[in-house]
Amino acid sequence: MKNPTLGVCYYPEHWPEANWSDDAQAMVEAGIVWVRIGEFAWSRIEPQPEAFEWEWLDRAIEVLANAGLKIILGTPTATPPRWMLDRWPDMLACDEQGHPRKFGSRRHYCFSHWGYRQEAARITQLMAQRYGHLSHVSAWQVDNEYSCHDTVLSYSLAAQTGFRLWLKERYGDITTLNEAWGNIFWSMEYDRFDQIELPNQTVTEPNPSHVMDFRRYSSDQVVAFNREQTNILKQYSQSPLVHNYMGRITDFDHYEVGEDLDIASWDSYPLGFLEDRIKQPESVKQEYMRQGDPDFQAFHHDLYRAVGKGRWWVMEQQPGPVNWAPFNPAPLPGMVRLWTFEAMAHGAEMVSYFRWRQLPFAQEQMHSGLHRPDGVPTPALAEVKQVFKELNSIDIGSVVEAPVALVFDYESQWSWQVQPQGYREGEPLDYFDMVFHYYSALRKLGLNVDIISPQTTNLSAYKMVIAPGLVTLSKNLSHALQTYSGVVLCGPRSGSKTDNFHIPDDLPPCWPTLKEAGVTVSWVESLRDGVSIPVEGGGHFCHWIEQLELSTSPKHKSHIAINMRRKDGNAALISVDNVYYLAGWPDSELLQRCLLALCDAADIEYTLLPKGLRIRDTQHMQFLFNYSAQPIEYQQINIEPAGVYWHCKNNNN
Ligand code: GAL
Repeated sequence: MKNPTLGVCYYPEHWPEANWSDDAQAMVEAGIVWVRIGEFAWSRIEPQPEAFEWEWLDRAIEVLANAGLKIILGTPTATPPRWMLDRWPDMLACDEQGHPRKFGSRRHYCFSHWGYRQEAARITQLMAQRYGHLSHVSAWQVDNEYSCHDTVLSYSLAAQTGFRLWLKERYGDITTLNEAWGNIFWSMEYDRFDQIELPNQTVTEPNPSHVMDFRRYSSDQVVAFNREQTNILKQYSQSPLVHNYMGRITDFDHYEVGEDLDIASWDSYPLGFLEDRIKQPESVKQEYMRQGDPDFQAFHHDLYRAVGKGRWWVMEQQPGPVNWAPFNPAPLPGMVRLWTFEAMAHGAEMVSYFRWRQLPFAQEQMHSGLHRPDGVPTPALAEVKQVFKELNSIDIGSVVEAPVALVFDYESQWSWQVQPQGYREGEPLDYFDMVFHYYSALRKLGLNVDIISPQTTNLSAYKMVIAPGLVTLSKNLSHALQTYSGVVLCGPRSGSKTDNFHIPDDLPPCWPTLKEAGVTVSWVESLRDGVSIPVEGGGHFCHWIEQLELSTSPKHKSHIAINMRRKDGNAALISVDNVYYLAGWPDSELLQRCLLALCDAADIEYTLLPKGLRIRDTQHMQFLFNYSAQPIEYQQINIEPAGVYWHCKNNNN
């Protein structure tokens, strides 16, 4: 197994050509192997419609390749030039109020717009024809960060037209759609598909089945947009195709996009994410402000390993303060190195830093890079060089087989958003938050986790499978669960809706083993902040509880065990054979109790880690990461703040 390599994001069009060669040389000296270019350069490639200036890009590619760098060439479709709007004035995505979003930043296109789809295919084809045969164009990045800046859901005319066609295709006739959506309610029945509008601007909430279908339709447009480019690129190039996904972006099904790509990559900004994307108390945000959340990066590493079918990269790694979060501190010395090794320990084949040099103009002028705008290296560059040196002295090895699989499902995220049924600290109850809560709890037990798709067909590699909040169980997973003998944990809200977003006829949980044994969720409650429901033995439910009705009828052959009870006597955790159901949103204490009990049942070894320490194994190495700002002593090993420690598993050194 080859060790991972390093990369950097570079924008030759931002810098004088006279500097390119020195920059390329300095990259190689820093140990950088990959350089990503081109993903925003459309206005310089095609300054006027059909008038091309390729020569500068030819020269940039040549200079970088001559220095020995491998090039990741981006298709520039995230930044259509201004003239594109003169050609296609209605190509802009529209917000929920129906207002078009304007030119003047990026991602100003609607995925449903056929004219723009053709333009994207056209520029991709031209780039592929020109550069696809070059061996040093060693990978292609398709577009840039789908969904960044909320750009998947568009309430445009193009989306409305596309949605109607999509519905016709899905339902065939309008009576079937009316039934599937339950449109008899409030006399919402339609006579024809062309009467159906997008689910925005309704007087009160729209029909959840309508919204769910719009979410599916919108996700399908991203898949199709991406596929149009990958189909072209595959004709002209043998190099792997990649997209750079993001942190906590869930508006399209990444697994489906990933089917058309060779490698998944993601853009990791640990400090920006802690400020901007994670629900954590103020004290935690202060404590980790220079390190990032100890689990957020790892969660996405494991998620994108699944999306990439095993192959994944970090395309953009934060090197210092960014510009886009509410607060933008600098990382603790050592963190850039820690983030890099952590990604590699989770199986990243490449970690690339954003960007080579800070730019003194435009929107990202306050975003740091590996160099200041005047060319002087920032502290991150020294850490990159150190990583490069260290990579020569260790063999990281391949990804470990994790004992635990955690299901993450994009449709469940949409279902929760469509019908949150409660709030938590002013925001709707959220599926991602719940799954991340479980992930974090597993990591605090020192466990390696695989995140798996809800379409997984084979679970035999795992001792335990966890699927909290998985609203609708796919046929594939349901089938795999029927023969699975490891421990399964689901609930709350698992198996609670049909595909059409109805409550199942025989009530939830629609889940193998549980249904047959006569387990029924008879009602659910959401709770206001500050209310918690104690559970015997320690811990509480908060935000959400469910009341279970447990059959005692002899017609149900399997025995239902009550493993934990609420203090009010209601069942909290039940099991039927190997399948457990947790009837509420657990606080950290209750979740840990449940996981410890289940690890024992599944024969999984765990260790309670000190605060801020995280572990990740590869097949033959173990890595320890100190995310805290204090030294940690663990098993007689002293790890400094932001420190990384590794040893061979069979032979401590
Ligand atoms: C990413 C994006 C980059 C750059 C970076 C700044 O979301 O792909 O182009 O904007 O953020 O942190």
